[in-house]
Amino acid sequence: MKFRGRIISVLICLLIVITWDFIYYFVLDYPIHIKVDLVFTLMILFIGYYMGKYYDRSDEMLNAFRKSEEKVNLLNEEMQHVLQSIDEVVFHTNSVGEFQFLNKSWEDYTGYTVNESLNKTALHFISLNERHEIQRLLRSSIDKKREKMKIDISYQKRDGQYRWGEVNIKLNYNSAGMLIGTVGTISDITERVHNEEELMEMNETLAIESQKLSVAGQLAAGIAHEVRNPLTSINGFLQLMRDEADEKTKDYLEIVFSEIKRIELVLSELLILAKPQSVTYKRINIVETLDHVSKLLNTNAILYNIDIQTHFQKKELYIRGDENQLKQVFINIIKNAIEAMPHGGNITIKATLNQDNKVEVTFKDEGIGMKKEVLEKLGEPFFTTKTKGTGLGLTICLRILRDHSADIRVQSEQGEGTSFHIHFDAAQGIERKKREYVHNQ
Ligand SMILES: Nc1ncnc2c1ncn2[C@@H]1O[C@H](COP(=O)(O)OP(=O)(O)OP(=O)(O)O)[C@@H](O)[C@H]1O
Ligand SMILES: [Mg+2]
Repeated sequence: MKFRGRIISVLICLLIVITWDFIYYFVLDYPIHIKVDLVFTLMILFIGYYMGKYYDRSDEMLNAFRKSEEKVNLLNEEMQHVLQSIDEVVFHTNSVGEFQFLNKSWEDYTGYTVNESLNKTALHFISLNERHEIQRLLRSSIDKKREKMKIDISYQKRDGQYRWGEVNIKLNYNSAGMLIGTVGTISDITERVHNEEELMEMNETLAIESQKLSVAGQLAAGIAHEVRNPLTSINGFLQLMRDEADEKTKDYLEIVFSEIKRIELVLSELLILAKPQSVTYKRINIVETLDHVSKLLNTNAILYNIDIQTHFQKKELYIRGDENQLKQVFINIIKNAIEAMPHGGNITIKATLNQDNKVEVTFKDEGIGMKKEVLEKLGEPFFTTKTKGTGLGLTICLRILRDHSADIRVQSEQGEGTSFHIHFDAAQGIERKKREYVHNQ
């Protein structure tokens, strides 16, 4: 109660006055002086009132103080809870860099307990080969009176494991400009650093590989060009000879001409693939593309006693895409199929139009098939089980197919064979949808 002190104090004073009056007038029997008595009573009550007021004020202040202490404690608890439950390490060091505070994450990050790390220099935990450089960076920041700095450090955990941390430090100075301590956070960036390193390595290898590929491509294009010219002359002269040849020679020449045609087909395919092409998406008849590719690879297949068979549901199945890129996909898949059948067999290429308006292209081989582990890694850059493979074939295929919004699935049984199924959106459907769209406008 707000007036408790005043009420009690006034009441006590009143009691004293009454007791005093009683003793004075009735026990000691002094004569009554109303005026003196009134002044005296009022004075005592007045003193009592002020004492009570003073008590009430200090009580109020005490209460307020208790409340704010509770608040501070609560806030402190909350802050501790936040500090201890965040993933990052939060630290505070004194002016010489000794840890004065560390949250629980420190133990997960380093394997050292908070207690044994307190009062130890932070640099103590940084890898030896980096300590010097970090010390230099810190000194230069302090010299320049910088307030904030961010550094990536590598540190060794108690179990010997190396980790990477991103450290954000706030440097605190006194009014004279002397460092009084630091506060900061450490976040684990090991995963990110490893990924970046892997990516850089991969980029380097990819750059080398693509350089190799482009050199090989240029060479192939040069050779194809060189072969084509004499081939045209040979063709021309043979045509002349045919007119004067007898029947038997004419039959032979027919075979020569058909073989020359094949060579020309192979050369033109080679030229298309070798030249860096710009990507152009257009409506293409996938049956024609598959036919070209299978013819191109047939010679290679025959060498390994492999028969490439094609089953096309229709003569024309249209999709939208870049023909050269798709040829590259099909060649890679057929090449893999050939390489999976060292003792020969059949490769079946199918193309059908599904009910959901998708063109499904299937490549089926009777090769060695794949283990579960190989299947899981399929398409990863540089993953290969072949001594001379680059492991880029399927990676490139997946990228091209993704650009074409095509879906690829694989089924494989060890010792039985492998099938790749690719689903493209049928171009007829797209055209029709477009027309409907225009019509509805
Ligand atoms: N039809 C298949 N049958 C069995 N294994 C296959 C088949 N296709 C792919 N693989 C496996 O997948 C791996 C990766 O194939 P990918 O085409 O990406 O690279 P590669 O063929 O090894 O090398 P490159 O294509 O550069 O010559 C192959 O090494 C092989 O183990
Ligand atoms: Mg391959």
